[in-house]
Amino acid sequence: MDLGLGGRVVVVTGGASNIGKAICTQFAAEGATVALFDLDGAMAERTAAEITAAGGSVTPYLVDLTDDDATEAAASAVAVDLGPIDVLVNNVGWNGTAEFFLDLTPQRWELAYRRNLFPTLNATRAVLPTMVERRSGAIVSISSDAGFGEFRMADYGAMKAGVLSFSRTIAKEYGRFGIRSNVVCPGLVLPDPNDVGERSLWAVDTKMGPAQVENITSGIPLRRRSEAVDIAWSVVFLASAQARQLTGQVLSVSGGFAMPR
Ligand SMILES: NC(=O)c1ccc[n+]([C@@H]2O[C@H](COP(=O)([O-])OP(=O)(O)OC[C@H]3O[C@@H](n4cnc5c(N)ncnc54)[C@H](O)[C@@H]3O)[C@@H](O)[C@H]2O)c1
Repeated sequence: MDLGLGGRVVVVTGGASNIGKAICTQFAAEGATVALFDLDGAMAERTAAEITAAGGSVTPYLVDLTDDDATEAAASAVAVDLGPIDVLVNNVGWNGTAEFFLDLTPQRWELAYRRNLFPTLNATRAVLPTMVERRSGAIVSISSDAGFGEFRMADYGAMKAGVLSFSRTIAKEYGRFGIRSNVVCPGLVLPDPNDVGERSLWAVDTKMGPAQVENITSGIPLRRRSEAVDIAWSVVFLASAQARQLTGQVLSVSGGFAMPR
């Protein structure tokens, strides 16, 4: 099936590692022209080179999504280098160590905002005006099942719920301009060690023991954890022509762990 993504310009934020890397890989496999935004320059180069060697088109851009000027400049550079942006995937996000709410500090709530909600609003602000002008565009934002409320994820979950709400608002406000905005919520995706850059949360402060992983897996109706490619397939579909009637929707790719209504 032709998903109509050939030659489309797709920006993937946080595209160097794990889920973002899989998303870049799948869009490239569909013939899209991918712009990979990441603050880890070395990993972004490595990922782009790997996908390019397999025949895809991926250009890395060194950009910190918590910097609004830099994000706007990167979006403008993509328009010049590759053409107008057709698809934005808001993938940057970060979950710190799991703590009960009363063990979290206001500093950490602020960090959760900077690392999850701000980058989504920021990148959307950078690409939306041109999408409105062109009366066309698709935005897919990565939230989390934690956005529906989850033990020991009060700060992260609240920000991911913000991503859900924001995406639906964009769907309502800009649908009349032909712009669609949808959300994918991954279940737990443990990375392949080769797909983890230095700035990946998996390299820094999220460590899970086998017992914890087993405990999570046993609570999944399909009894299997999601892989990065599972998330990527859903993102690619939601960005495709075949999803033209879908907007404001939330897809949990979690083996049934979460069943959002
Ligand atoms: N992995 C999971 O189990 C899981 C589950 C649910 C939701 N999610 C969400 O999926 C998304 C991707 O998760 P992941 O596991 O692939 O994360 P990851 O940490 O492995 O990868 C994130 C990428 O974003 C980059 N990055 C981080 N901050 C950035 C910034 N400010 N500007 C530019 N780039 C930045 C990192 O360098 C890295 O390449 C996140 O939004 C995460 O919250 C992940």
